[in-house]
Amino acid sequence: MSIKNLSKETVRIISSGQVITSITSVVKELVENSIDAKATNIECKLVGGGFTSIIVKDNGIGIPLNDRQFIGHRHCTSKLPDGSFDNISKLTTYGFRGEALNSICTISQSFSIETRTKEDIIGKMYNFDHMGNIVSETPTNTTIGTTVQIIKIFYNTPVRKFSFKHSGNISNKISKRKVNATFNNNNVEWHSIICNSTMDSIKHLFGSDLTSQLQSIKKTYSFDNEESDDTEEESIDENNIKNKLINEDDNFSKNIEFNAILYKPNVDPEKYWRSSTDRIFFYVNKRPIQLSLMPTFKEILKLIKQKSFQLSNTESSGNKKYPFVFLDITLPTNTIDINIEPSKMKIMFHYPQRIIDLIDKLTDEIYPPPKLNMEIPLIFSNK
Ligand SMILES: Nc1ncnc2c1ncn2[C@@H]1O[C@H](COP(=O)(O)OP(=O)(O)OP(=O)(O)O)[C@@H](O)[C@H]1O
Ligand SMILES: [Mg+2]
Repeated sequence: MSIKNLSKETVRIISSGQVITSITSVVKELVENSIDAKATNIECKLVGGGFTSIIVKDNGIGIPLNDRQFIGHRHCTSKLPDGSFDNISKLTTYGFRGEALNSICTISQSFSIETRTKEDIIGKMYNFDHMGNIVSETPTNTTIGTTVQIIKIFYNTPVRKFSFKHSGNISNKISKRKVNATFNNNNVEWHSIICNSTMDSIKHLFGSDLTSQLQSIKKTYSFDNEESDDTEEESIDENNIKNKLINEDDNFSKNIEFNAILYKPNVDPEKYWRSSTDRIFFYVNKRPIQLSLMPTFKEILKLIKQKSFQLSNTESSGNKKYPFVFLDITLPTNTIDINIEPSKMKIMFHYPQRIIDLIDKLTDEIYPPPKLNMEIPLIFSNK
């Protein structure tokens, strides 16, 4: 078969599949846009599990008039400072690729946005075509903020729609996304939920019985290892380069902070551990991370499992299950790469072993290894 140029429409449908991987990922992208727009109230409605319609309404700053023609266009973003990749380490937003709304336009039957900023006398509703162009606008009576409405997502990708429809409980997955939103911005309301703290969010979603088994830990370590001696396995060269990288820009923090909510020691795995990973929440600099995409987090999870299980005094099959884990790692932005793949659920650590070593240390503090109770046999004694 001879080589042919794919049509633009085909290219757009193919690449949209890398950004929009499920209904959950649509909600994630829209909620992240709302948080980026400084919303403190976000409402989400899904009809037919999201396949019929998805509406996300926020009270953020709205979209300025001059920007509206670009919002549906691919690679148009207001978030990357000066539009330059050099500034990627200065990002303070979730979004930066300018792909999400265009991808959604491509694969939904109808896409509209209603928005109003504080400068606008009235709001406006815009309808978009599959290319992300505005095809109509109507004045509306709306408050400041933005509402995105999507009708029949995946209507032109029936295979994707079928496989997502049969890929498990969507409301569970949305609830996980809900946790992501509330965990990362404690003032965000979801419907009528107000969560003042991460622990509140967990209690709201998973109940007080589970919450009573949890402990909250906050720990900061020096990234450049000035005060600790646990980087023996790293080569001298790597340490030198790392210290140079961290120290060369004083605007960057030089610490790694771990903000974790984990089971207390001796929690019964039989009762509280689960056979799926649906209660495991990893973040890096408050960005949600997909466990299955990152070997470093698999390693971290293994450590947390091992250390907490060894204290559980049980012979049960708990070892095949997973504990509750919430872990947000805050580290210098120039020691990670966030631009690894389109869904932004994977990042790259420049020094993964350093993170794993510190988690090892942290989990030893939370779950101290059981002391071996060995009496010295008389035969070896001096007396
Ligand atoms: N809820 C919202 N409130 C205000 N502005 C918004 C909102 N949603 C989208 N926008 C504007 O539309 C632009 C395009 O959004 P889109 O999600 O496609 O890209 P992005 O957020 O910039 O990057 P990414 O593709 O990584 O999410 C944003 O840069 C922002 O300017
Ligand atoms: Mg976005």
